[in-house]
Amino acid sequence: MRKKIVAGNWKMNKTLQEGVALATELKEMLEAEKPNCEVVICTPFIHLATVAELTKDSVIAVGAENCADKASGAYTGEVSAAMVKSTGAEYVILGHSERREYYRETPEILKAKVDLALENGLKIIFCIGESLDEREKGVQETVCRTELEGSVFHLTPEQWKQIVIAYEPIWAIGTGKTASAEQAEEIHAFIRKCVAEVYGAEVAEETSILYGGSCKASNAPELFAKPDIDGGLIGGASLKAPDFKGIIDAWKK
Ligand code: PGA
Repeated sequence: MRKKIVAGNWKMNKTLQEGVALATELKEMLEAEKPNCEVVICTPFIHLATVAELTKDSVIAVGAENCADKASGAYTGEVSAAMVKSTGAEYVILGHSERREYYRETPEILKAKVDLALENGLKIIFCIGESLDEREKGVQETVCRTELEGSVFHLTPEQWKQIVIAYEPIWAIGTGKTASAEQAEEIHAFIRKCVAEVYGAEVAEETSILYGGSCKASNAPELFAKPDIDGGLIGGASLKAPDFKGIIDAWKK
């Protein structure tokens, strides 16, 4: 049985104190009512060590939102995969469209990050997804396949076990426009087919594929009911504990 996951992506939000308050509130909520899925919160680098310590014996796993494409050395301002791991974080998000677009992260750079994250024992939430223009041209499948080929399909089947895919149509991120459950399911099934072509049907069946893009408590139940949607990567709605908990609860419906 593949894992169901609800992962938060705080992006560049919350001071350290605000982040600690949010993680504490969520931890208390999930202690009172156990989730039916794995819960991950991906935070800015500065929160990692504190939030990982705070959630140590809880159901919450912690992840980073990025890591460097170099192992160590004179790269001012960068944070390595080894440093992320040393905080107690288990996950790292790589390939988010905001990193690809605003920080010019190419498939080659992402491939280097993927390799370093795995070498350092991190699990990866690898994001793929098309722009509005690409969706209108009907090339969303090619875009997703190319992004997988460019940065993760070189991995061995053993390494692949550490990969979670997040399908995030760029036109749905932070826009309030969600892909319909049918639109999302169509691509998720296609992504699973691509994984099966490379790693075989059994591995593909075990791969968790999350949906991201304006996912909230009101639309999560319909999305998560689809056979190939294994959870969500949540931006805006992960910034308030009750909103995020509402999405986690979609797995109870
Ligand atoms: P959103 O962001 O939920 O705010 O649309 C999702 C993401 O970018 O991971």
